Amino acid sequence: MVVHAITANLTYEFAADVRAGLTKTGQKELLSKYLYDDVGSALFEVISHLPEYGLTRADERLLRRYAGDIVERLAGPVAVAELGSGSGKKTRQILEALCRRQRTSYYPIEISPTALAMCQRELSDIDCISILGFEREYLDGLLEVAAQRHTGQHLLVLFLGSTIGNFDPMAGLKFLNQVRRILQPGDSLLLGTDLVKSSAQLLAAYDDRLGVTAAFNLNLLARINRELDGNFDLAHFEHVAKINHQSRSVEMHLRSMRRQTVNIPAAGVAVEFLEGETIWTESSHKYSLEEVCQMSRTAGFRCDVQWVDDQWPFAESLLVAE
Ligand code: AVJ
Repeated sequence: MVVHAITANLTYEFAADVRAGLTKTGQKELLSKYLYDDVGSALFEVISHLPEYGLTRADERLLRRYAGDIVERLAGPVAVAELGSGSGKKTRQILEALCRRQRTSYYPIEISPTALAMCQRELSDIDCISILGFEREYLDGLLEVAAQRHTGQHLLVLFLGSTIGNFDPMAGLKFLNQVRRILQPGDSLLLGTDLVKSSAQLLAAYDDRLGVTAAFNLNLLARINRELDGNFDLAHFEHVAKINHQSRSVEMHLRSMRRQTVNIPAAGVAVEFLEGETIWTESSHKYSLEEVCQMSRTAGFRCDVQWVDDQWPFAESLLVAE
C-alpha cells in the first residue's frame, strides 16, 4: 500500500468567494463547497446517520449489494478516480471487488485535507491498492489523474453521494460534459443521485429534529469567523430549509433574524443584512431516473445500468463514455 498526497492552499480563494457572494445584489450567497471544513465534514458524517436522512445509507446499501455487478461490467484493467472521497466507506466495496481481479490504483480527489487523510486511513488495509490523493477541485484533480493513466488502462470515475445535486441541472450537465471531455471512450462514470421524493420527506431530511443540519449550515458562518476573522453572531441567524418546486430541489438558507451589520476583515467587507434576509448556502437537486440518463446522453455517455435502492429513492447509474 502506497499513500501520497498533493496539497494546496485555498484560504485566499475562500476570502474572495465569500466577498463575491455576500456583496451580490439580490440574493446573497455562499458556495456549498465551503460547508466542508473539519467541523462541517464531521457534522455531515453525523447527518448521514440521522433517521430522517436516508441518502448516504441508500448509497452505501447499493454499493454493498451491487459492487460485484458494477465491476463485472468494466472492461480490461481499470484505475479508479473518485470526486469527493468522503469517508471512503462506500469506495471500499468497489475497490475490494476490483481487487479480486487486479491490482488497482485509487485516486481520491478532495478539497478537504482532513477528509482526504481519513479516507486514506480508512482504506489503507486493502493491500492490492495504491492510493494517490489529490487535494484539488474535481476537474483539476481529474485532469491530473488522466495524465497518470497507462496505455490500455480505463478509468472508472466515482461521483457518489448525489454531490451532483448541488449543481443546478444546467450546471450539472455542463459538469458531466467537462468530465466526459477528460475521459476516453470506454471509460466509465458511476454516478449516485438522490431521486425525487415527497416534500415532507425532504423537509425532514434537511431540517432534522436534532438540529444537526442547522449546525452544519451555521458552521459556515462560524468558519468565516474562524478563518477570516468575521464577527457573525450565530444567535442572530437561523437555518431554513425550503423546497423549490420549480427546480425540484431543496434549498438551505441562513436567515438574518434582525437588521445587522457583519464585518469580515480578511475578506475586506462589511455586510448589511435586513431582518428576514437570507444567505443561500446550498441547493440539492432531486432527479428522476430518466432525467439522469437523458443528461448523461447529452454529455456523451451511454446510460448502461441503473440500480435503485428499495428503502430510500436513490440511484447509482453506470455511464460509459462513448
Ligand atoms: C453531501 C451534497 C449529498 O445535498 O444532501 C446534507 C449535503 N446538505 N444535508 C445533500 C447536505 C444538507 C448533501 N450532499
